[in-house]
Amino acid sequence: MHHLIQAILIGAGQRGADVYGAYALAHPDEVRFVAVAEPNPERRVRFAAQHKIPPQNQFESWEALLEKAHYGQAAFVCTQDQQHTAPTLAALRAGYDVLLEKPMATTADECRQLADAAEETGRQLYICHVLRFTPHFMKMREIIQSGVLGEIINVSHRENVSWWHMAHSFVRGNWRNTAESAPMILAKCCHDLDILIWMLDDRCESLSSVGGLKHFRAENAPAGAPQFCLDGCPAAETCPYYAPFIYEDLAPLWRGYADTSKGFARAVMRAQERAPGLVQALSALMPTLRQVSAYQGWPISVVAQNPTPENIHEALKSGPYGRCVYHCDNDVVDHQVAAMRFAGGASVTLTMHGHSHAEGRYTLIQGARGELRAEFGYGGAWIEVNEHRSDLRTRYDTSAGADEGHGGGDARLMRAFIGALHGEDSPALSTARRSLESHLMAFAAEEARLGEKVVRMDNWRLMI
Ligand SMILES: NC(=O)c1ccc[n+]([C@@H]2O[C@H](COP(=O)([O-])OP(=O)(O)OC[C@H]3O[C@@H](n4cnc5c(N)ncnc54)[C@H](O)[C@@H]3O)[C@@H](O)[C@H]2O)c1
Repeated sequence: MHHLIQAILIGAGQRGADVYGAYALAHPDEVRFVAVAEPNPERRVRFAAQHKIPPQNQFESWEALLEKAHYGQAAFVCTQDQQHTAPTLAALRAGYDVLLEKPMATTADECRQLADAAEETGRQLYICHVLRFTPHFMKMREIIQSGVLGEIINVSHRENVSWWHMAHSFVRGNWRNTAESAPMILAKCCHDLDILIWMLDDRCESLSSVGGLKHFRAENAPAGAPQFCLDGCPAAETCPYYAPFIYEDLAPLWRGYADTSKGFARAVMRAQERAPGLVQALSALMPTLRQVSAYQGWPISVVAQNPTPENIHEALKSGPYGRCVYHCDNDVVDHQVAAMRFAGGASVTLTMHGHSHAEGRYTLIQGARGELRAEFGYGGAWIEVNEHRSDLRTRYDTSAGADEGHGGGDARLMRAFIGALHGEDSPALSTARRSLESHLMAFAAEEARLGEKVVRMDNWRLMI
């Protein structure tokens, strides 16, 4: 019987509160948050109330928290991308084992400092590469490693960010601006770069990259579009990015789920898109429908702290998520391709773009003895293997439960981290040292894209 892990949370935002906080509330015998650092008072108070954290253990910043007593064994660092290094270094030095959100840091030097500090202090430091913990990519890795595909010759992996997710996170939202957060190839694709090297058990030797910001620019704004959608936009009925369509009707979200889920769930999502009043009325009789009709999760949880219809509408009038997508201060790419040569000789491409109709990752792997095709979407996932000689086709359903975050990766990663704190081995957990490689690939891809050149990974490895 394991002892209860006592933990501190640094940054009670979407990941900290809604993912790790929610896990702790659902598994009170495994982990308990006993102190929190969060400058936003509403978030701090809400998290403290949910986790019954006494006032003396609530802090406005990580500095204040870490200066005080030692509160337990583990620290969860869930601040924004550019605020990862300082609190993580301080937490390691204060004696905590740390689970750090991705990207581990936004410069190669800071990434190295983190990996070094974990080893110097003898603490455990893991990076949240959730895809490694999804049934989908676990199965794909197992298939590749089994040898059924033979020698791997070529891989093409697509990260299809849906058009409205792109608008939400990378045009209007937290990851829109490179100077304020990170290049998109790091922010969005460090998971994909990591999963490619982890599945292939290989590393990248050199790469090139092209891409840019093509669509979300002022010159593409509809004629007469104001700064905020609600200020009488003439394209309100036709623009897909019209903020009330995305955040008040939530139509793209319901469609996304309806496209990928099955049976009753699909029918409810379709009904919610077309006749929300009906779903609301039926919720009185069927409480399970309230999860949909009274939905308060991502992305609206980011738009307003308490995302009631009134608060959402208010936030759209003058808040960042109500801005015209063509009049934002965004500069991150909306499409990028990286072409890589792996040490084992395989050619690998990663295509990331923000204009997909539905969210999801596609993978196509050509081996000397067989081919693998796979899709990993919001509501489901599958892998198909075709063996050349026998023509045998095997299909795997790799879906996780509809309510499992990141295709089941979030909860499994948490379980593995807690296991590691109890001394259990979890090869899928990525230490800071192991995560260096995927992060360096992202920096190299950005160098290649901006400089229009082929970059050798050794140059980056030598630099750190
Ligand atoms: N693993 C994944 O798949 C995944 C998915 C989404 C986001 N992320 C990453 O998780 C991190 C957090 O993202 P998020 O969406 O939760 O962001 P968020 O903005 O919702 O949360 C960050 C929180 O940190 C708080 N904060 C700021 N300064 C602080 C300080 N000095 N001390 C303590 N807290 C402070 C902010 O007030 C905010 O509440 C980001 O780095 C993001 O890239 C990872």
